[in-house]
Amino acid sequence: MISLRPHSKREVMTDPAPQSMSQKLETIKTFRVATPADAAGCREIYAPFCAADSPVSFELEPPSEAEMARRIASTLETLPWLVAVGNGGKILGYAYASPHMARPAYRWSVNVSIYLHPDARRQGLGSDLYKRLFAILRDLGYYNAYAGITLPNDGSLSLHRHLDFLEVGVYERVGYKCGAWHDVAWWGLALQNHPDVPAEPVPFPSFVASRGSEALLALLA
Ligand SMILES: CC(C)(COP(=O)(O)OP(=O)(O)OC[C@H]1O[C@@H](n2cnc3c(N)ncnc32)[C@H](O)[C@@H]1OP(=O)(O)O)[C@@H](O)C(=O)NCCC(=O)NCCS
Repeated sequence: MISLRPHSKREVMTDPAPQSMSQKLETIKTFRVATPADAAGCREIYAPFCAADSPVSFELEPPSEAEMARRIASTLETLPWLVAVGNGGKILGYAYASPHMARPAYRWSVNVSIYLHPDARRQGLGSDLYKRLFAILRDLGYYNAYAGITLPNDGSLSLHRHLDFLEVGVYERVGYKCGAWHDVAWWGLALQNHPDVPAEPVPFPSFVASRGSEALLALLA
């Protein structure tokens, strides 16, 4: 397991957030690599999107805390999973990468996912978290990031557009949940220029071991 001390902090802008929201916000946040111990906080954020009335995730039931811990640990064997943490230790959001496709020629491409606590949205945190994830993915040697977005989802579409993703296309009526068929829009981002011959991507734990946690912390600053 990769363990890193908290490093970067900055104030979350609470203005012009509504008073009720700003009262709930934690004023300082830290970005760090997740551990399986973050499963409960990540699950709390993710579970509503798995509920029977939400098509955002195509899961039909929220994963258990143990399953969430297993997913974090499994992801970290090769790829990054980051969390944004409030000064009280509460998980405000998380973002992670997963393989885009299993066939080996796809191995320089990842899917990315991001979920924030409702009180932490619309303040730039999604952008901040994603930018840190992309910086790490570039250093690991990845070239393409893709996001699948169940429609409609104005917040997610806006975030990905804001970060220069381009729309690849829409899988029409590809999933059935909540008594209806749902479209999924796929958006893609070139993380860096594509060389003629790419080097093999570096497994995330090897990156931390070879470059040291300081290099990683610089990317999270
Ligand atoms: C999608 C999500 C991660 C966006 O994170 P965020 O921190 O709110 O986004 P940011 O504050 O960084 O906003 C980035 C841009 O998108 C815009 N944006 C964000 N949410 C928006 C919304 N709900 N409606 C319209 N625009 C929105 C912002 O205005 C900003 O552009 P700007 O520079 O013009 O202000 C967050 O809303 C979320 O967790 N949603 C629920 C889970 C989800 O849908 N995840 C994605 C699954 S595909």
